[in-house]
Amino acid sequence: MSHAPIRRSQRLNQITHAPHEQLDKAVKANAPFETLPRYTRFLSAQYLFQQELKALYTDPQLIELIPDLPERCRAEQAKTDLNDLESPIPGPVAGSVNNPSLAEALGWLFVSEGSKLGAAFLIKRAAALNLSETFGARHLGEPAGGRAEGWKRFIRILDDLPFNEEQERQIDAGAVAAFERFNVLLEHAYTSAAEPQPA
Ligand code: HEM
Repeated sequence: MSHAPIRRSQRLNQITHAPHEQLDKAVKANAPFETLPRYTRFLSAQYLFQQELKALYTDPQLIELIPDLPERCRAEQAKTDLNDLESPIPGPVAGSVNNPSLAEALGWLFVSEGSKLGAAFLIKRAAALNLSETFGARHLGEPAGGRAEGWKRFIRILDDLPFNEEQERQIDAGAVAAFERFNVLLEHAYTSAAEPQPA
C-alpha cells in the first residue's frame, strides 16, 4: 500500500470537515429559503463575509499567485443582490480579518472559494423565492468558466506553493478562522433587529 503524503488541500478539507458540517447545519437551521426576509438575512451574512475578504481578493501579493483573484470576489454581486431586494447594505461588524499573513490569507480564501461549491445547491433552493443568478442570488451563481474548473485551478495553485511548517500552520488557522467568522456573521444577521422590509 502506498502512503503518499496528503495534499495541502486534502488536509484543509479534513480539518474543516467538522466546522463545515456545523455551519451547514447552522445555515439550514435558519431556514434561509423559507421566506424572503429570512433569505435577506443570509444574504447579509454572505455580503459581509465577501466584503471583509475584499482586501485579500485585491492584494497584489496574492494576485501574483492567483492572477484571476479579483474576479473571484463576490462582494459586488452580493451588494447588487441586496439592492435587487431593496435591502439596506449592512454596516461592518467588529472582528473582521485584519492583515493576515500570506498563508493565513490563503486559508480564508480556500473557504470563500470552496463555498461556491455549496452555492450550486443553494441557488436551486433560492429559485423557490424567484431568485436567480440575475436577480437577488447573483452571489450564488456559477462563476465564469464553471464552478468545478475554477475550484480545480485554485486548488492546483494552492497545492503547489512551497510552504514551510509555520506557513502550513497558518493556512490551517486561516481556514478554521474563516468558518468561525462566517458563523459569527450568520448569527449576527439572524439576531440583529429586523430591517424594515419593502411591502
Ligand atoms: C463560508 C463557507 C461555507 C459555507 C457557508 C458553506 C455552506 C454550505 C451549505 C449550506 C451546504 C449545503 C447545501 C445543501 O445541501 O443544500 C454546502 C454544501 C457543500 N459545500 Fe460548503 N460551505 C462553505 C465552505 C465550503 C468549503 C470550504 C468547501 C470545500 C472545501 C465546501 C464544499 C461544499 C460541497 C462540495 C458541498 C456539497 C454537498 C456536500 O458534499 O456536502 N463548502 N456548503
